[in-house]
Amino acid sequence: MNEQITPAVLNTAKHLTVGGVDTLALAQQYQTPLYVYDTGAIRTEIAAFKQVFEANQVHYQISYASKAFATVAMYQLAAQAGIHCDVVSGGELYTAKQADFPMAKLSFHGNNKSIEELTMALDYGVGCIMVDNFYELQLLAQLTAEREQLTTIMLRIAPGISAHTHEYISTGQADSKFGFDLTSGQADTAVKQAQAAPYLDLVGIHCHIGSQIFEVDGFKLIVDKLVALFARWQTELNFYPKIMNVGGGFGVKYTSADQPLLPTEFVDAIIKETIAQTQAHAVPMLEIWIEPGRSLVATAGMTLYTLGATKEIPGIRKYLAVDGGMGDNIRPALYEAKYEAVLAKNPTLPSDEVVSIAGKYCESGDMLIWNQQLPATQPGDILAVLDTGAYGYSMASNYNRNPRPAVVFCEDGHSQLVVQRETYADLVRLDVPLVTKVNN
Ligand code: LLP
Repeated sequence: MNEQITPAVLNTAKHLTVGGVDTLALAQQYQTPLYVYDTGAIRTEIAAFKQVFEANQVHYQISYASKAFATVAMYQLAAQAGIHCDVVSGGELYTAKQADFPMAKLSFHGNNKSIEELTMALDYGVGCIMVDNFYELQLLAQLTAEREQLTTIMLRIAPGISAHTHEYISTGQADSKFGFDLTSGQADTAVKQAQAAPYLDLVGIHCHIGSQIFEVDGFKLIVDKLVALFARWQTELNFYPKIMNVGGGFGVKYTSADQPLLPTEFVDAIIKETIAQTQAHAVPMLEIWIEPGRSLVATAGMTLYTLGATKEIPGIRKYLAVDGGMGDNIRPALYEAKYEAVLAKNPTLPSDEVVSIAGKYCESGDMLIWNQQLPATQPGDILAVLDTGAYGYSMASNYNRNPRPAVVFCEDGHSQLVVQRETYADLVRLDVPLVTKVNN
């Protein structure tokens, strides 16, 4: 049996449950492929982060990196939990607004925010803009001056430290498209420019060193580097930030091979290091912000699929095909991400064959899982691919013109549809038929 499946998530019929709801019933009610979330688990993760900050009695903020999973209902859940959210596009910003998420609790990230997006953020009264580069700094200084609108900002710096498990999801090394470079002095210049802008209120410094991180060392290094930098800035630039934002990236367990720390262990180490470093440099303690995305939602979500075709190549491999694939989960194809699946009707059945789970997309790379143990299956069985809650739905596409799945939230034995399944009509909704020859 998959070690992530405990008796607590099986019902008396031995069916897999999520948030107390039978996954077979969910598949029947909402069809497959289907993203399902245990929203109680998301609340528990948020509470755990909060608890470690509270226990250490430090000023803090948890800002959910909503790129991991952004829907109206998710912003509502974040609002209920009282946390902040990061957005990285006009689209995420719009979605948060539609959810009535408190705009003052939003931070707006991005390395190339357009004038329209920045204007939208100013119109909405977004709490903090994370300024990424000189172009944006100048643009924002100009826009805020024209509007005479005092705006809170943080500067994103590239600290020259990266901690990552895959090149495509590493963002903190010096050679990165994100943030002001530290070693060449760009960050110093940016601080001076921000200080000179009458309508910009520079409250903090941000960095993000990568994603799916499994060790605290990178975060400790970041704290050491930032606090030393801030101490120098205090002397040289007469600037000391109120907030140190160390980003997200806390790793989660996708398969039994992953041995992540508890998210709270990361935070505890960050807090302790910040206290030690600020004391060592004799500078004020900082307010600590974190931006967890994956660690709040990944393991709370799973994808339900219906098994269809089987292909067995004697002596080589057995493929089981599901009714979804790279359109609803691009991560295996894009990052070689690993997942584990269980048979929803009884995850405790002995696993008697090794299979590979293929998607239905017209591409050989459309594989969700290679070589995993599974009990004997039949077409029509429901397969649950576990821990797909982060960067699954949010990176979904209509490749091959497949409609994107629905999303359902489950808690305390109840389910609620929060994103409808796309229809074929949705797929052509924005298409404009050719009425005549284009060159006429
Ligand atoms: N803050 C910033 C500035 C970020 O760029 C990110 C993620 C986060 C926070 C949240 O990181 P998390 O806690 O989720 O690791 N699509 C990739 C992940 C890209 C992450 C990009 N930045 C994936 O599917 O693994």
